[in-house]
Amino acid sequence: MPTIAFASPKGGSGKSTSAVLLGIDLAERGATVTLIDADPNHPLLRWSRRPGVPATLTVVACHGEEQLVDAIELAARQTAFVIVDLEGTATSAVGVAMSRADLVIIPTKGSDLDAAEAVKAIKFLRFQEKAYRRSIPFAVLFTQTRPAIRPKTQINIEQQLAEQAIPMFATQLHERDPYRAVFSFGGTLRDLLDNKAMRGVDTAISNVRLFSNEVVAQLDRITAVAEAVR
Ligand SMILES: Nc1ncnc2c1ncn2[C@@H]1O[C@H](COP(=O)(O)OP(=O)(O)O)[C@@H](O)[C@H]1O
Ligand SMILES: [Mg+2]
Repeated sequence: MPTIAFASPKGGSGKSTSAVLLGIDLAERGATVTLIDADPNHPLLRWSRRPGVPATLTVVACHGEEQLVDAIELAARQTAFVIVDLEGTATSAVGVAMSRADLVIIPTKGSDLDAAEAVKAIKFLRFQEKAYRRSIPFAVLFTQTRPAIRPKTQINIEQQLAEQAIPMFATQLHERDPYRAVFSFGGTLRDLLDNKAMRGVDTAISNVRLFSNEVVAQLDRITAVAEAVR
């Protein structure tokens, strides 16, 4: 079933966090999900070793492009969604993941420097399109943005991307403590609902749901996946 790859040469742009949050949301909606951790630092594997991983979500770690191709093919046969988290450099493994992806998500923060890195990822993707002779659907995802205010620099970047007809998710994964907590301590956002010290968990959950809905809608145009999620 469909493969979603998170790619960006910029470390800290939010690839691993967004990949885990999307995987959790799809799994909590009843879909089977494989998260492929293709980053040699294995941040998703670390997350999965802690308690609270949803029953229908499996994390698989792999090394290098050969293992990655096999892991994607196997996971695509076994689960409704395959999500690949990639390292922050333009390696051949990133190219391979893009070549197999039904959707490439390019996370970026809202600054000029970060946007320049997102543009590099798009150039790399365009090259894979040429090399593999297929068009690769992709979209930029703004992450770690402020929920209340859109700074001028970010508005400017959004305008520039729109002028170049670069697709962007309408939903942005805002900067939220619960996201940081899930990624660093394990488990899911729902596990944090009872934690009195953690504020804004409900809002954080609905923010991910909006993003996840957009992903499902985009994939549904390519292949029928909507029935896999409630
Ligand atoms: N939406 C977010 N809200 C709060 N913290 C975030 C968010 N996205 C990422 N982070 C934090 O930023 C850091 C880098 O994120 P990460 O997902 O590891 O980026 P990448 O995988 O692109 O290197 C991590 O400490 C993570 O907890
Ligand atoms: Mg990462």
